[in-house]
Formats: sequence, structure tokens, C-alpha cells
Amino acid sequence: MYQLFPERPDDYWEVEALYDLCFAPGRTALSSYRLRDGVPPVMGLSHVARDSDGTLAGAIRYWPVMIDAAPALLLGPVAVHPTRQGEGLGGALIDESLARAEPQGWDRVMLVGDAPYYNRFGFTLLEGVLMPPPTNPERVLGRALIEGAWDGVTGEVLRWPD
Ligand SMILES: CC(C)(COP(=O)(O)OP(=O)(O)OC[C@H]1O[C@@H](n2cnc3c(N)ncnc32)[C@H](O)[C@@H]1OP(=O)(O)O)[C@@H](O)C(=O)NCCC(=O)NCCS
Repeated sequence: MYQLFPERPDDYWEVEALYDLCFAPGRTALSSYRLRDGVPPVMGLSHVARDSDGTLAGAIRYWPVMIDAAPALLLGPVAVHPTRQGEGLGGALIDESLARAEPQGWDRVMLVGDAPYYNRFGFTLLEGVLMPPPTNPERVLGRALIEGAWDGVTGEVLRWPD
């Protein structure tokens, strides 16, 4: 069994190692990382999942971004250790962390990912929301945390201001 905990600063390098294991080499060259450079992840929403012996089994992080003047959460990276995939852990990380987002004052969340996976969590294509190139626009997905939160929100996704 596993338990979810909010990520703490001490978890940082362990989570990085899990992401290195789970993603293709060069993940930090992806354009979404340019929105994360020098911006701390959202603590309280970013989570780790640990086995009963403390072994890291999965992790999810969130960053704040701006779309024009509208703040949004950028979900990801989310990853589950290869030996633990397909057990519902990815879904649990997404559901449990997102449940905390609206109470913490966030209205909308976006990500860059596979629609066939994220559709089940209520994410749909975001038209007119432009990630830094090169990003396949069909992978830019969003979910409103309060009704209508994406209505009229379009433009370039920008790094959170300093
Ligand atoms: C994507 C990931 C986080 C899912 O975690 P998980 O714990 O295996 O997911 P769950 O057990 O909650 O869900 C498994 C289901 O998701 C499906 N799934 C997983 N990745 C998928 C994808 N990229 N596209 C479509 N479906 C996907 C599985 O086929 C399975 O489907 P089923 O329920 O119909 O059998 C995990 O596979 C992972 O770490 N992958 C490598 C890193 C990655 O790609 N992260 C996401 C970036 S977009």
C-alpha cells in the first residue's frame, strides 16, 4: 500500500531521480520546463506517494503560470515508478492533489499531455492557449476548477512573474 504526502523540500532530488527514470532523456529541454525555470513548484499541491517502507512510488508537481492576465496551474510532471504503474497510483495522485487546488484559490488547471489519459480526469483540449514552441497544440489540455473558469481565457502561456 502507499500513502500520499505533500512534497517537502527534502524530497526534491528523489523526485527528480524518479522523473529521470520515468521520462525520456532530455525531459528538461521540453518547452514546458521554460515556464518552470527559476519558479518554485506549488507546495501543498505537489505530492509524493510512498510505499509503507518509505520508497518513493510516484510524484506530481504543479507550477503557477499566467495566460495573459489569468493565473493557472500547470500540472506536471506526474510519474509513477515503472514497477507500480497500472495500479491506479497516477490517478490517485492527480485526483487527490487536484481536490486541494480550488480550496487553495486556483480556478483553472492546464497541462501538456496525452488526451486519452487525461480525458478521464476531466481535461479537454484548450483552444487558443499557446504553449511556448515547439508544443503540439493537441496536447494542450485544461480543466476548470470552478465553472466557466476557462471561458475567454486565451493567449500565450507565460512564466509566473518574479
Ligand atoms: C502516465 C502515468 C503517470 C500513469 O500512472 P499509472 O499509475 O500507471 O496510471 P493509473 O494506474 O492511474 O492508470 C492506468 C491507466 O492509464 C492508461 N494510460 C497510462 N498512460 C497512458 C497514456 N499515455 N495514454 C493513454 N492511456 C494511458 C493505462 O493504459 C491504464 O488504462 P486502464 O485503466 O484502461 O487499464 C505513468 O504511466 C507514468 O509515470 N508514465 C511515464 C511518465 C509519463 O508519461 N507521465 C505523463 C506525462 S503526459
